[in-house]
Amino acid sequence: MRILLLAQSFNSLTQRIFVELEARGHEVSVELDIHDSVTIEAVALFKPDVVVAPFLKRAIPEAVWRNCLCLIVHPGICGDRGPSALDWAILDQQKTWGVTVLEAIAEMDAGPVWAWAEFQMRPATKSSLYRREVTEAATQALLDALRRYEGGLGPLPNDGPGAVARPGAWRPLCRQSDRAIDWKRDDTRTVLTRIASADGSPGIRDHILGRDVYLHDAHPATGLAGVPGALLATSGPAVARATVDGAVWIGHLRDPAGPYPFKLPATRVLGEMLVGLPEIAGDSDEGYREIVYEERAGVGYLFFSFLNGAMGTDACIRLAAAYEAALRRPTKVVVLAGGSDFWSNGMDLNAIEAAQSPADCSWRNINAIDDLAEAIIRTDSHLTVAALQGNAGAGGVFLARAADAVWLRESVVLSPHYKDMGNLYGSEFWTYLLPRHAGEERAAKIMSARLPMGAAEAVSLGLADARFGWGAADFLAIVRARAEALASAPDWMARLAAKNRSRAADEAAKPLQAYRSEELQRMHANFYGFDPSYHIARSNFVRRVPKSRTPVTIARHRDKRLAVRWRNAS
Ligand code: COA
Repeated sequence: MRILLLAQSFNSLTQRIFVELEARGHEVSVELDIHDSVTIEAVALFKPDVVVAPFLKRAIPEAVWRNCLCLIVHPGICGDRGPSALDWAILDQQKTWGVTVLEAIAEMDAGPVWAWAEFQMRPATKSSLYRREVTEAATQALLDALRRYEGGLGPLPNDGPGAVARPGAWRPLCRQSDRAIDWKRDDTRTVLTRIASADGSPGIRDHILGRDVYLHDAHPATGLAGVPGALLATSGPAVARATVDGAVWIGHLRDPAGPYPFKLPATRVLGEMLVGLPEIAGDSDEGYREIVYEERAGVGYLFFSFLNGAMGTDACIRLAAAYEAALRRPTKVVVLAGGSDFWSNGMDLNAIEAAQSPADCSWRNINAIDDLAEAIIRTDSHLTVAALQGNAGAGGVFLARAADAVWLRESVVLSPHYKDMGNLYGSEFWTYLLPRHAGEERAAKIMSARLPMGAAEAVSLGLADARFGWGAADFLAIVRARAEALASAPDWMARLAAKNRSRAADEAAKPLQAYRSEELQRMHANFYGFDPSYHIARSNFVRRVPKSRTPVTIARHRDKRLAVRWRNAS
């Protein structure tokens, strides 16, 4: 079928649906919801069999839904309606929730139901639930709906046999007053639930030391307590604030009135106001822990969870130190297990945007990430594995590829390219790693296509070596079993020797330093050269400036060569 995805942005769910539909042989094109006239034009150009709206905040124009089946993905159970479905589900502490695929009609979220899927809620932020459970359920429900359509079936019946139960109801927009924190009364669980319901966006509005800020990235602060509402300590980027029965770490804040109205470390936003507070080490049990090391059966596991997968200079230096420490242990395999939502999205673009010199900050960041990638590539004492529970983008993909093996959770989506960030050339030894694993021709295609890629395609192209496990727990259980098998395999020594021989041969052919220098020369031009594209693209990205047109890489109906082919075919 020809399927047009209509979305507010090409977000994680839209990317996953794009990847799944393409893998099933559908012709897929994307139009971002910029203006009704643009949507109408896209439909006229592409002539889709179905329009799918995975992530849409406005109504589809009547001229479109009257003439073509439009399926809306709503992150709520059957009957649920309104713009804050998941926010309310978290605040109401629902045990199960769901995703419904409905047909667009004049009334918002009120059309016939084509399919739905349910999932168990997890104590996590809205964006984490969205990236994992909602995305899984939405994909499953949408594929069900499309199967019904292809099979000539209509929507599910409203009454009679097989009728859809509609336990949900209309809920209005969730406002700040619906989830405001009362520090004098709320316990830790309530505070965490309220922040989770609004995280990643819009955050909970709060007042700290006379500043109006939005709270993000909250975790329990075990072992800390004080006068409710008081700030107690700092740890890395986070500040601890007392609740009535304990305390929470708040890792990031957003100050909408400040010069940098996007998420930044809480300690940076509050700055000197925090002088005098005790500092708790980030690697202690009481601290705000971004890096955790575990060891079992000859395998060292490094879990690293940096907000949104953004790896700034300091994060890279700390992770490199933890990696070196892991290599000093008497283990045989090191698994770089990342975080549950993201493995890595490369340099920390928010920190760069807020730096006094974004060019200098970018330069330090790319060098720090390259140091880490180089340490992984040069490891000659252990077999190394990058195990991706969550998505990776740009430099994060190639940082993973620096390991000997890359294992993906089945539903992971990779964005293995840099050019969308203002034509950034990229580093992380991609010019060595990508051709080495994918071959020259595929490497060039991957980089120029600028498309998201599912786990199956990533394995088939050599960007990864294995994929397994749909849920995070299944995935980690299999990772542990496979890593321990690697460590105890009788041929471990032979494998290590083979990898070291292969590295030595590569080094003789072209030293790693040469790849690094060539890449960094291009990056230097991106950061310091006369073309400001990277700085403009980064500013737009971190400030969430909506796109004024859909990139032609995904709006294939606007690609003149493909459009001719489609016209001839129809
Ligand atoms: N630095 C800082 N923040 C980042 C980031 C980075 N490298 N990558 C993603 N984020 C943040 C986003 O700003 C967003 O924050 P928000 O919750 O405050 O809105 C959040 O992570 C989720 O990102 P989003 O873009 O909404 O996720 P997605 O799944 O739609 O897209 C990517 C994933 C990887 C395609 C996209 O995030 C991206 O292009 N990131 C930048 C990659 C990059 O160019 N890195 C630098 C070169 S190494």
